[in-house]
Amino acid sequence: MASLREIMDLASRPGILSFAIGLPAAELFPREALAEQAARVLRESASSLQYGLPYGPLKTQIVQLMALRGVRCTEEQIFLTSGAQQGMDLLSRLLLPPGGQVLFERAIYDGIRLATRFQQPEILTVAADLATGMDVDAAETLLAGGARPAFLYAITDGHNPLGVSLSREKRRRLAGMARRYRMPILEDDAYGFLYYGETPAPPLRALEDEWVLYLGSFSKILAPALRAGWVVVPPPLAARLSPLKHGVDLDTPSLGHRVIAAYLEAGLLPAHLAMLRDEYRRRRDTMLAALRDHFPPEVLWNHPMSGMYVWAELPPGLDAARLLQAAVETESVAFSPGVIFCAGDPCGDRCLRLSFTSLPPEQIEEGIRRLGRAIRAAMGAAPVSGDA
Ligand SMILES: Cc1ncc(COP(=O)(O)O)c(C=O)c1O
Repeated sequence: MASLREIMDLASRPGILSFAIGLPAAELFPREALAEQAARVLRESASSLQYGLPYGPLKTQIVQLMALRGVRCTEEQIFLTSGAQQGMDLLSRLLLPPGGQVLFERAIYDGIRLATRFQQPEILTVAADLATGMDVDAAETLLAGGARPAFLYAITDGHNPLGVSLSREKRRRLAGMARRYRMPILEDDAYGFLYYGETPAPPLRALEDEWVLYLGSFSKILAPALRAGWVVVPPPLAARLSPLKHGVDLDTPSLGHRVIAAYLEAGLLPAHLAMLRDEYRRRRDTMLAALRDHFPPEVLWNHPMSGMYVWAELPPGLDAARLLQAAVETESVAFSPGVIFCAGDPCGDRCLRLSFTSLPPEQIEEGIRRLGRAIRAAMGAAPVSGDA
């Protein structure tokens, strides 16, 4: 069998319908509005192209944005980064000693593993429930048993890859555990503004402001190429992050930060977010309906209320990486096999992460139809009528 890397390369070839990568829909980027703001920023100020201090007006806008998530904070607590990924990297450098412990869910965003790999940490893992999120009891058992992780990493809403949002009760318990065990929590809220039902429960940072270090991002709500994110941390920690960031990339991408600030000051984000939620809800619903229509009943999946991913599980005996190779070769359709998100004990070998945002609805329907055929072929079952 080809290596996973080879299959993923194959999956990104033109002509493949790919659910593999968590890309926002490029056709929904607010290009005109950003172009307008960029032109204005560039015309009005030479300092938009100069080295400079982190851009204060963007921090002010982020304080207001955080209030929409129920988080109260001040400009002094906001530290601007080149994406949430850089926030993860910097906080890992600061908090995690070489060989220290970290606490992750077993299936987790691979970026946190990349951000911590130089410290070669001891990775403690807990399971997650597809309806309520992280197994908080298991985390508590580890802590009560003497584990002392440098931090616990949590994606409270629109979990990548599991698509689940942490229940209110678990949020409360995790915030309490952070206080009791004096354990920092890195809360990654990259998807927190992309919800498809009622406004979700506030993030952990709204419940605990000392031990929860919050990571935010404009990648999924504006555009990833802006490379703009932020962390919300106690001011002394922000001061310690500053020289670390300086050593990595000297300066924030201040042109992008000024353009984002101008876009937010013009009051354009709420309508854009409403449009994104409507369109992504439509795409999620299209995918869920197509899964019901075209996947064999033995396959299970969840119903994400936020974020960009559906997590599906094949019946015993099937292997998702093997299925990916067959699906790409025979049906020109791709997905991410669960193993690539596995942080601890073997996990996810029967699982698929399907991104529902990057393709338009017609292609989602067609891609799931093809994938359903590939699964049936792998199961040795005949295609159901209408699917041939
Ligand atoms: C959970 C999570 N956090 C962070 C990121 C990266 O965010 P950024 O583009 O702001 O670095 C991603 C990207 O897919 C993600 O899924």
